[in-house]
Amino acid sequence: MAASGSAVGLGNIWGFPTNAASNGGAAFLCAYLFLAFALAYPALMAELIIGRAARANGISALQSISSGNRSRLAAFLVGFAGMITVTFILSFYSIVSGWMMAHFFDSIAEIFKLMTISNWLTSDAPLRNSLFVILFVLLTVKIISAGVKDGIEKWASRLMPSLLILLILLIFYVVSLPGAVDGLRVYLVPDFSQLSDPALLVDAMGQAFFSLSLGVGTMLIYGSYISDKENLPALGGLVALLDIGIAVIAGLLILPAMYVALSNGVEIFDSNGEFIAGPGLIVSVLPNLFETMGAGGILVSLAFFSLMTIASLTSSISMLEVPVSYAIEYHGISRKRASIWIGALVTLISLLIVFNFDPLFDQVVSITTELSQPLLGLAFCIFAAWVWQRDEVLKEIKKGSPHVENSVFWRVWPFYVKFICPVAILIVYFQ
Ligand code: TRP
Repeated sequence: MAASGSAVGLGNIWGFPTNAASNGGAAFLCAYLFLAFALAYPALMAELIIGRAARANGISALQSISSGNRSRLAAFLVGFAGMITVTFILSFYSIVSGWMMAHFFDSIAEIFKLMTISNWLTSDAPLRNSLFVILFVLLTVKIISAGVKDGIEKWASRLMPSLLILLILLIFYVVSLPGAVDGLRVYLVPDFSQLSDPALLVDAMGQAFFSLSLGVGTMLIYGSYISDKENLPALGGLVALLDIGIAVIAGLLILPAMYVALSNGVEIFDSNGEFIAGPGLIVSVLPNLFETMGAGGILVSLAFFSLMTIASLTSSISMLEVPVSYAIEYHGISRKRASIWIGALVTLISLLIVFNFDPLFDQVVSITTELSQPLLGLAFCIFAAWVWQRDEVLKEIKKGSPHVENSVFWRVWPFYVKFICPVAILIVYFQ
């Protein structure tokens, strides 16, 4: 539940549908499904297995499976780069999550007809953005400092099912509105000629890595908390299925919602005829759509933005856990202190981005998710397949699934992460 809470986040409900919308809908869906199962799932398994075997944070874990001095140094660099990357990812993630929270409070303000407050909450003022960044990071710090069992596990297993229920209720509502069918058509009827577009593949790969929280040690650290009794390939498969499933389901909400908005006179294309994607989609198109729904729209808005806040929180805690677990295990700092200090650092970086939004936001997003994440994901595959002894890997997986040796998983996966994943990631990357 916690690992799928990490995977399911803004990436599924905002990133995937908008990426799909701007990359030909159904064609993107097909490419994404293929890449998520063929590249991201094997990379996810690499992280989970290393994590459970080492029972430690990213840096210590990679070092413990390395033997020579050179590979130990590489382990340190990869683990450290992952930690820096995830700190920056959390910084921009908190800004977007802050917007979601602001819109959530806006719905409450509207219910009580507090129009001045509502106007402020929907403004894009740096003060509003700063306050909500601080609030969001505070919540994340609070959960993380409560620890794994009472913080992460308790909240993920409460929040995840409510998210799914809300999502499905919203789909039923939106799909019944005029215009929704056009959105469904774009999303579900593929135009395969678009698959030859390299940009589509790069986007789909980046999306799959971001969505499964790969490359930065998040899944590794969650792997380190998994009991030896668990069957890892099945568990990882479940997390991947849930994550991919929720993205696909979120597409059933967002694409129809965009076309409902269009038929209500809301602008969904920019001046170049391209979709208004990225941050613009949810914070401008959707509130406009909710407004056109009359009184019921406020409740739909409340439900939607609480869903977004929930999804963000179960992801942000998994990001903060990466540097926090390192500080605890490597430097012996207490959990509470580590969460507070690292939370403060994240807030500082976020505020820097808020006040220099225009160049910084896009740059941080693209450096961390497009440049850093796939390369680090590649490094994790190399550690699992080239650095670590094959026997040790098998021994680890066998703990929870004694018959794995004869399974399809063990026949395919080791070869796969050793050769296919690195080459495929590099090919897509250089394109
Ligand atoms: N996967 C989450 C999402 O889809 C975000 C996330 C959580 C993440 N932990 C991560 C992204 C680590 C990159 C790295 O929203």
